[in-house]
Amino acid sequence: MAILNILHYPDPRLHKVAKPVDQVDDEIRTLAANMAETMYAAPGIGLAATQVDVHRRLIVVDVSENKDDLRVFINPEIVTAEGAREGEEGCLSVPGVYDKVERAESITVKALGLDGKPFKLDAEGLLAVCIQHEIDHLNGVVFVDHLSRLKQNRIRLKLKKRARETM
Ligand code: NI
Repeated sequence: MAILNILHYPDPRLHKVAKPVDQVDDEIRTLAANMAETMYAAPGIGLAATQVDVHRRLIVVDVSENKDDLRVFINPEIVTAEGAREGEEGCLSVPGVYDKVERAESITVKALGLDGKPFKLDAEGLLAVCIQHEIDHLNGVVFVDHLSRLKQNRIRLKLKKRARETM
């Protein structure tokens, strides 16, 4: 396994739209394992392939307290979404920045598992929010894209300044 490099906002590669996975093979399973390791090491509760510069529709999520409930979604699609909630979000691609985003309260998502078989999952609360956030990444959307222009500009400046300082 390997820790992968995570792209940081405002890297334009974060705005690429990921392509569907046509076959769940060993390459995809290795990518999922490496993404999970990268997410746990960060540490974070979700990671999309887009964030590690692989533009395929694959996300990993673990919102459990003990970090023992890894969920992998290949070609995930939200089939129903209900209610609304506003909660504070962060992102491994936007380190140190947290802000409120409105999401559906509960969703049903369908996807393929690591065995290539389709499954459906009903999710609510933090899990539902996390899945919506990660699917956004596959569509080239970072959570700050949901914020006002003013906030986006402020975040962009802050991260550019920090990148210069750590060079
Ligand atoms: Ni994110």
